[in-house]
Amino acid sequence: MDVYNKRILLTGATGGIGEQIAKELAFKGAKLVLVARDIQKLEQLMSALESPYHHEIISCDLANDESIRLMDCKLKTLIKTWNEGIDIVINNAGHNQFQLLSRKNTGQIYSELSLNLTGPILVSKYAINGWLNQPGLILNIGSTFGGIGYPGYAVYGAAKSGLYRFTEALNREMHGSNIKVHYLAPRATKTRLNSQQVNDLNSELGNHVDTPDYVAGQVLKMIHTEREYCWLGWPEKLFVRVNQILPGLVSKSIQKQLPTIYRYMTTSGTK
Ligand SMILES: NC(=O)c1ccc[n+]([C@@H]2O[C@H](COP(=O)([O-])OP(=O)(O)OC[C@H]3O[C@@H](n4cnc5c(N)ncnc54)[C@H](OP(=O)(O)O)[C@@H]3O)[C@@H](O)[C@H]2O)c1
Repeated sequence: MDVYNKRILLTGATGGIGEQIAKELAFKGAKLVLVARDIQKLEQLMSALESPYHHEIISCDLANDESIRLMDCKLKTLIKTWNEGIDIVINNAGHNQFQLLSRKNTGQIYSELSLNLTGPILVSKYAINGWLNQPGLILNIGSTFGGIGYPGYAVYGAAKSGLYRFTEALNREMHGSNIKVHYLAPRATKTRLNSQQVNDLNSELGNHVDTPDYVAGQVLKMIHTEREYCWLGWPEKLFVRVNQILPGLVSKSIQKQLPTIYRYMTTSGTK
């Protein structure tokens, strides 16, 4: 899909990856609705974009059902004003806390599940029922950890793998309509999502870390080519495949890393 002149709702727009996606989309002539919680950061981002007057901002807590319902109301009002709907939804907002499950409190568990899984599901439902054009595209941003269960990311992995299956099921459910649902899974990327402990762990394990502008470029490419699924990075995308067929092999390789992972996890504070 060509993004020129398309209306695109982008969640997590002020984050490391979101900001780069917003800049590239605006540069290519898309009209954006930027979503995050911090209104000041949204305003700053909007004014820094190409053609700021083409864009809108909405403050929304995507881990909160009522806040998402209010966003749906605002979008319906905007759509009446524009007299046109939204063409693309990018469910990009996400968060994780690298920690043993036994050390997480119930609130943290629910908040990770809500933001990374329930939020995109609700946004997709409101979009389909109310304001997504046909042809329309929903692009869900997942993670390598949605394809490989990894220590320290049990809840995040559960949410992102759930998001993957949700994408697959909804895409099949919508077959015959003109709405497509796709999934892009970045590997480690240099943003503030990752604590210093996680950056140090990646560096000690020799894990490659992508730049946000690389990931944003892949997002644009995926929209352009309408590719359904994309796992970023070698060898991560290979491990995701191997994990489906021979999970024991991947477990053995992760077991070797466990002492290092535990060392960084025990010093990891809450974000
Ligand atoms: N960075 C990585 O290593 C990595 C790897 C694989 C996948 N990903 C995925 O890529 C996506 C973008 O991540 P990122 O690295 O760019 O993260 P980031 O830099 O931490 O940005 C997170 C964005 O989400 C927004 N956000 C956080 N909590 C929210 C909430 N409750 N409601 C609404 N918005 C909320 C933040 O804005 P406010 O705080 O103002 O709300 C911010 O705009 C996520 O889905 C993440 O899971 C990242």
